[in-house]
Amino acid sequence: MATPSAVPDILSPEFAADPYPYYRTMLEEFPLMRQESSGGYVISRHEDVQRAFRDPVFTTDNYAWQLEPVHGRTILQMSGREHAVHRALVAPAFRGNELQERFLPVIERNSRELIEQFATRGTVDLVADFSTRFPINVIADMLGLDKADHDRFHRWYTSIIAVFGNLAGDPEVAADGERTRRELGEYLIPIIQERRANPGDDLLSTLCAAEIDSTRMTDDDIRAFCSLLLAAGGETTDRAVSALFRNLLDHPDQLAAVRRDRTLIPKAFAETLRYTPPVHMVIRQVAEDVTLSGGTVPAGGTVVCAVGAANRDPRRFSRPDEFDVFRDDLTASTAFSAAADHLAFALGRHFCVGALLAKTEVEVAANQLLDAMDDIAFRDGAAPPEQGVFTRGLVTLPLTFRPAAAGASPAVGVPAVPA
Ligand code: HEM
Repeated sequence: MATPSAVPDILSPEFAADPYPYYRTMLEEFPLMRQESSGGYVISRHEDVQRAFRDPVFTTDNYAWQLEPVHGRTILQMSGREHAVHRALVAPAFRGNELQERFLPVIERNSRELIEQFATRGTVDLVADFSTRFPINVIADMLGLDKADHDRFHRWYTSIIAVFGNLAGDPEVAADGERTRRELGEYLIPIIQERRANPGDDLLSTLCAAEIDSTRMTDDDIRAFCSLLLAAGGETTDRAVSALFRNLLDHPDQLAAVRRDRTLIPKAFAETLRYTPPVHMVIRQVAEDVTLSGGTVPAGGTVVCAVGAANRDPRRFSRPDEFDVFRDDLTASTAFSAAADHLAFALGRHFCVGALLAKTEVEVAANQLLDAMDDIAFRDGAAPPEQGVFTRGLVTLPLTFRPAAAGASPAVGVPAVPA
């Protein structure tokens, strides 16, 4: 199997500039593509990527070299009982009553605090002023960390995400990742020790008290878990919020519909996850020879799952390159579960544990932003281009808007947001 000349290397600047036309070529002509730069195989069809997420022959052993140097060992690379037990430690905080009763007010407050800082200004960079800050502030609050340290958290998660996409093995990116691991440890370990001595009502205290097979997690296990939560829940949700607004602003009729009927927000978010997922590439390593569309990956081979392409596979979605909140082949009620039609949260046992937290964050943010801002428009006439290959999205989104009139009548379907 040769690398097709019609599709540049996924690590090349041409691919990063605009991967979408190449995704179409991959889907039609090269569903299994050898990657010269990394020696891996890229798969793009929905059916193949879905299988890679569900079939245990596709292991997550890759995280031992892809992320362990920066995080340490985390649930991403665990399997079987070890994975299930560790995942169960945080999963309750991210769903059901814990999420709705304990953390919804935290999410609402954090969104409101950020919006208040620009609500009367009439201009905003939605990324710099809101979306990079909001999810990290929420996780910091959930863990009981100090939000004043936001700039450090932001630096750390940016460094971790760079390591995640460092398939080319850039030594500077790797060295920065090691620095991040050290700094995050120096910051977190004393807090973990303090929380063991004086437990509070926060997720970090829950992790300190948790026992797995009658053994407490070590300080370093907890540091690794927190490092994963900051990175996994930070940039992803940041990109999701800005992509949602960019996609709606590109389709004013759909923006008007969502503004009128806020029960459409989960549909608009689900379609955003399909059309412009924050994570475009996820890696797996195969335990034995596996035959997929287009050929066989040998045992031990690295497989790059092109989620951004699979979500636009015409075999699965009609008019795949169109953003359509009203499409009938994407079910909103399952879009935030492991039965989702899109693949933005992966599927199977590593399905994103924070999917419902992300949904709640995006619903709250979208409602509050639409309440605060009327006549939203791109400041420069259009959105700036997306950036990134493994994770992809906007790094700035300058907008203008008319500050909403005080006392305007609320839109249909807006959930009650306590003051
Ligand atoms: C729109 C937002 C988000 C997207 C697109 C997203 C995407 C993903 C993806 C693709 C995976 C699977 C990785 C793999 O299988 O190799 C994953 C796993 C994970 N996500 Fe998310 N995520 C989002 C939000 C969050 C949030 C808010 C949190 C929590 C703070 C979170 C925590 C995690 C964790 C801990 C895992 C590992 C689960 C496991 O291995 O069992 N994510 N996420």
